[in-house]
Amino acid sequence: MLPQELLEKLRQHVQYFPRREQAILLCLHEVQDYYGHIPNFALEEVAKILHVPLNHVESVVAFYDMFDRGEPAKHRIRVCVSVVCHFMKKDQLLNALKKHLGIDFWQVTKDGRFKLIPVQCLGACSCAPVFMIDEDTYQFEGEEKLHEILSRYT
Ligand code: FES
Repeated sequence: MLPQELLEKLRQHVQYFPRREQAILLCLHEVQDYYGHIPNFALEEVAKILHVPLNHVESVVAFYDMFDRGEPAKHRIRVCVSVVCHFMKKDQLLNALKKHLGIDFWQVTKDGRFKLIPVQCLGACSCAPVFMIDEDTYQFEGEEKLHEILSRYT
């Protein structure tokens, strides 16, 4: 069972749309923000709230790479791997992150603080190469600045 505060938010999203199932992306984002990933039991709860079959919710989660059913972490680092960032030294950013955190994509640091996730264009191509930590967007400005940014997230 989802906690009451989360259920309330999902119900608010459902009320916003003419058809309940149209709220699916908002509901899934809400669940992921709450737990840091999408736990299996939450899929069933979302299906019930939206009045859709469980496999419909599962297929939506599987389709979008922004949804994560794997191990949760306190902070999610999303690294843009699309073409503009790729040509603007995305590999330097990625290597610096991997070196500093000691993890690869889809892994979680030993202290549970960070998870590294590849994503497509974050819509900030003019600042490439770009990464996000939770809801904050950053331009890669070298390893020293990267370390300073990471230290803000405890
Ligand atoms: Fe990386 Fe657009 S290609 S932000």
